[in-house]
Amino acid sequence: MKKKTYFGTLIFFALLFSCFLPTHGHAVENDECMECHSDDSLERNESEGMKADLFIDYNRFKFSVHNVNGIACVDCHSDIEELNWDNEVPHNTALEMVDCDGCHEEEGEAYLDSVHKKASGKGITIPCYACHGYHFVTHLEAESVFERTNSFCLKCHNPNNFHDWLPQKETHFAFVECAVCHAPDSPRYIALRFYDLIFDKFFSDKECLEALETDYDGFMDLMDQDKDKIISVKEVENMVFLLRQKNIRGTFHGEVVMEMVPTVHHVNRGGANRECEQCHNPESPFFEEVYICLNKDDGTRDFFKVERNVLESYYVNHFYVIGGTRVRFLDKIGLALVLGGACVVIGHLSVRIVTAPIRRRKKEKKDEFASS
Ligand code: HEC
Ligand code: HEC
Ligand code: HEC
Ligand code: HEC
Ligand code: HEC
Ligand code: HEC
Ligand code: HEC
Repeated sequence: MKKKTYFGTLIFFALLFSCFLPTHGHAVENDECMECHSDDSLERNESEGMKADLFIDYNRFKFSVHNVNGIACVDCHSDIEELNWDNEVPHNTALEMVDCDGCHEEEGEAYLDSVHKKASGKGITIPCYACHGYHFVTHLEAESVFERTNSFCLKCHNPNNFHDWLPQKETHFAFVECAVCHAPDSPRYIALRFYDLIFDKFFSDKECLEALETDYDGFMDLMDQDKDKIISVKEVENMVFLLRQKNIRGTFHGEVVMEMVPTVHHVNRGGANRECEQCHNPESPFFEEVYICLNKDDGTRDFFKVERNVLESYYVNHFYVIGGTRVRFLDKIGLALVLGGACVVIGHLSVRIVTAPIRRRKKEKKDEFASS
């Protein structure tokens, strides 16, 4: 797994900092901004269709990836260089749009080649924060596809209106990130997550570590008994066995996830992948990298490499079903197409039943979103 470096950015800031220090003294501190912006009744005088509310929830901001990495209010709102306390509003109110690509250059560049950026030609501006938000950005890695419910894209698109060629749409949208198909040039991996069959839920990573009586650092040591730095099928079985001794019964679910690279932004019209065999085929290049992923509190993820043929083993039931029985499976779809009409109705009904829990979850999420 490649980790991006922010060296360029760092050097840039080091230089910037060294230029500013002697002349400007201290940059404006967050506390100074919060003297006013922690007031939850603070509103714009004239909102003119903009968001009126100017309250910033600093307790949430504190945990944002930006604050954790030392990015201050004025690093983004960079046209506020100083505060003039003689004025009621101590800064200019016609502020420039925040420039995210100033620091995220590679993403900015990758974004140029996307239908969303190009929409500006039609007068539709979709800034970075239309998807990412701004004050409360967190690391993206640790949110699994399932919990995230592809929420970025669902803000604006309803995928059920398209994709009529795709069976089990709900299942696909729950376990495949949109970008996996829509940004076809980005590398992917399979993230295995432990699913508790008794409580019918995904195991949190803490629960998993607690049950195994280990921690992030000890995990690989415990799992990788032959110390070859890769978890074999046998070693996965061992883990399941260890958990079973604690009366925990479960299985692994695989999710198809994007690597965190700038090219995830390459979403374009007509460029998406629609070949079933890209995924439903044990030989697929999509499946070269398989990891057990443990999510950490800071939003990052630890990766533990697993032997690829675990996907065809008993304990990864979903990919086993799809991969191992691929030919039969595709035949069945062929047959369904021949049988046609009536089948579609029945099929659709049963799909809705099978995926009811997923839809319920999505709805709960949406309600949560709407009420927050
Ligand atoms: C003395 C109070 C006060 C302080 C200190 C203050 N602001 Fe403001 N800020 C306001 C008020 C009042 C407005 C609304 C102005 C208006 O009516 O449009 C505002 C508006 C804003 C806006 C919205 C402007 C726009 O584009 O429409 C931003 C962004 C902002 N402040 C950021 C900051 C930052 C960053 C700091 C610290 C460097 C800061 N403020 C410090 C009072 C303050
Ligand atoms: C990662 C960059 C970033 C950081 C850090 C940041 N802001 Fe913002 N802020 C934005 C963006 C983007 C907007 C939306 C601007 C727009 O709508 O044009 C915004 C909007 C605002 C607004 C307008 C109200 C709103 O919520 O949309 C205020 C007030 C504000 N910021 C204050 C602050 C203060 C105070 C801090 C520090 C505690 C801060 N910002 C830190 C990027 C940032
Ligand atoms: C249409 C929605 C969308 C827009 C607009 C968008 N992004 Fe993203 N961004 C994503 C998705 C989806 C991911 C991958 C998330 C995942 O795989 O979990 C991502 C990932 C990222 C990442 C982490 C991956 C990496 O390269 O390290 C960064 C940083 C990022 N975006 C910054 C930006 C910036 C800067 C812009 C504006 C130039 C932007 N994004 C615009 C959807 C968007
Ligand atoms: C002043 C520089 C700066 C600005 C401006 C800035 N960022 Fe960041 N951003 C950072 C740094 C530093 C990190 C942490 C890098 C890391 O740990 O990978 C980060 C992290 C992120 C991540 C998490 C990437 C991941 O690895 O999961 C996203 C998403 C992101 N920023 C989006 C934005 C958006 C959207 C904006 C504009 C509203 C923005 N950033 C503006 C410096 C900046
Ligand atoms: C802020 C709203 C917004 C978000 C969020 C968003 N899109 Fe879009 N998307 C649009 C708009 C607007 C267009 C149409 C652009 C045009 O007509 O040129 C579009 C176009 C598309 C298209 C081209 C097909 C078409 O109808 O023209 C695809 C594919 C697409 N988006 C996928 C995605 C994916 C995948 C995500 C999540 C990573 C996403 N979108 C997030 C607004 C959004
Ligand atoms: C299994 C692969 C796959 C997945 C997963 C997927 N799509 Fe698509 N999508 C496609 C293909 C193929 C098309 C046909 C048009 C194209 O090639 O871009 C398409 C078309 C679209 C269109 C444009 C429809 C049109 O008529 O132009 C949008 C918008 C879209 N998808 C959004 C999404 C969103 C949002 C998600 C995630 C919830 C998603 N897609 C998940 C493969 C996929
Ligand atoms: C980008 C990868 C991808 C593509 C392309 C894709 N699928 Fe899937 N498919 C998945 C994943 C992941 C699942 C869910 C596995 C799970 O339930 O854990 C799934 C689930 C399914 C299921 C439900 C199986 C079950 O056991 O619940 C069917 C049926 C299916 N896909 C058929 C198709 C067909 C037909 C196509 C081509 C039109 C297709 N898929 C294209 C990744 C993909």
